[in-house]
Amino acid sequence: MYKPADARSHVRAPATIANLGPGFDCMGLALNGLADEVQARWSGSQETVLESIDGVDAEVLPRDVKRNCASVAAIEALRLAGEERGVALRLRKGFRSGSGLGSSSASSVAGAMAVHRLLGDALSEEDLLRASLCGERVASGSAHPDNVAPALFGGLVLVRSTDPLDWIRVDVPESAYFAIILPHRQVRTEEARRILPETVPLTSVIENCRNAASLVLAVARGDLQLWGRSTRDCIIEPARAPLLPGLEEARQAALQAGALGFSVSGSGPALFALCDDPEVALRVSKSIGEIFRLRGDQFDTHVLRADNHGALGFRYDREDN
Ligand code: HSE
Repeated sequence: MYKPADARSHVRAPATIANLGPGFDCMGLALNGLADEVQARWSGSQETVLESIDGVDAEVLPRDVKRNCASVAAIEALRLAGEERGVALRLRKGFRSGSGLGSSSASSVAGAMAVHRLLGDALSEEDLLRASLCGERVASGSAHPDNVAPALFGGLVLVRSTDPLDWIRVDVPESAYFAIILPHRQVRTEEARRILPETVPLTSVIENCRNAASLVLAVARGDLQLWGRSTRDCIIEPARAPLLPGLEEARQAALQAGALGFSVSGSGPALFALCDDPEVALRVSKSIGEIFRLRGDQFDTHVLRADNHGALGFRYDREDN
């Protein structure tokens, strides 16, 4: 016989591209095809435990429930729901951490959402985002929402304000393809944030505002040419260039091979190029890959589309499932 205490949940949360060029800490989009997964059940006590972590880079992730972003987000979700029971979690990593593709956000969102599902969808969207941000803070030292929000809601999400939370979500056109290069190096987000300038020239702020605004309009209108032209960041990318060897050569290669736009994904080292055709995206990923091959770097390439659904999860109500 089914008892609520036997319920389990299983959630999958996608990788994301944050910043998208000019939208530092403001916007990001979800990617289809790379994701982390969390399974949850009631632990039988007030303790929350991490039963297992497996998959990509599992060995480097913290086992301590107070330091692992998935369990931190789950614990905050329990608190926000007023739930005193603890959960037992299993985390499966689907892509590299420290890659610039929102690995900690995918785990955080999956942890928070797994609790939400286990509780029969008890949390509001805002509380889910809040709980996920707690996971992001413990992983990267800052609760920036630009990976977490699209991992949760899918599509492109622009977070207008973090206090109070206020976000706008738009679908990403199906015709957009992303050529992604993932060098086998880690860039620690904390470190990549520490080197940023404290003040920037007004002219640079104006240029980034122009591009950020036109980028969002371009996505909403499905205008990939305008999106490509808007993928320019004259503040964060130049400051981080020393952490991203090969960046300029990769940009030239991508644009010559037919990409509409190019930038760093999050804090890197992943780079992405916007394309309007899968064949072109493949060619672009090969051209950028050639730059890294000549440099003697190891890397993976992906051609992905956006994920307009965001985190997906369900609850099993039978013990034998
Ligand atoms: N906006 C954040 C940054 C994203 O660039 O530091 C980190 O993935």
